[in-house]
Amino acid sequence: MENKRELKVSAIENGTVIDHIPQGAVMQVMKILNLENFTDQIYFGANLESKKYGKKGIIKVSGRFFLPQEINKIALVAPTATVIEIRNYEVVSKLAVDIPNEIVGFVKCFNPKCITNNERVITRFSVIDKDDIKLHCHYCEKITKKQNIIFN
Ligand code: CTP
Ligand code: ZN
Repeated sequence: MENKRELKVSAIENGTVIDHIPQGAVMQVMKILNLENFTDQIYFGANLESKKYGKKGIIKVSGRFFLPQEINKIALVAPTATVIEIRNYEVVSKLAVDIPNEIVGFVKCFNPKCITNNERVITRFSVIDKDDIKLHCHYCEKITKKQNIIFN
């Protein structure tokens, strides 16, 4: 069965595999990590069968490794993701993502009147609920909920 999955998305020599991405979140993860502008090989799969989650997505990025603070940004849309480091075709580490306490600069504030939507001010939120994501804006004090999140 596992071999079947390997046929769908091929193995990589060096780089990062982001596995167990929730159904529908693959493109958002690509955007958050700025992979749209990346020039090395990227494989991705969506709607793959997963025993744990029913359907899942996966992204494999060749020749690229991420710092924890960089990869943790994806936890907003992919809290179940596993980040796997591959060196010389071997799995060297597997980590779960952690939702950060603070979100700086890549999420838009839901409030159209917020200074961050009207002047060149970088957004800043504290995460006040990690289960049912709620972001508290440092500037206007309004709450941006998970379903209202738009990425810059
Ligand atoms: N992988 C890869 N290239 C490699 C080695 C592994 O792309 N050279 C990918 C596999 O396709 C898999 C992930 O890295 O998606 C983790 O590999 P492995 O631990 O071998 O897979 P599983 O046992 O299926 O892991 P889990 O049960 O955690 O899903
Ligand atoms: Zn605001």
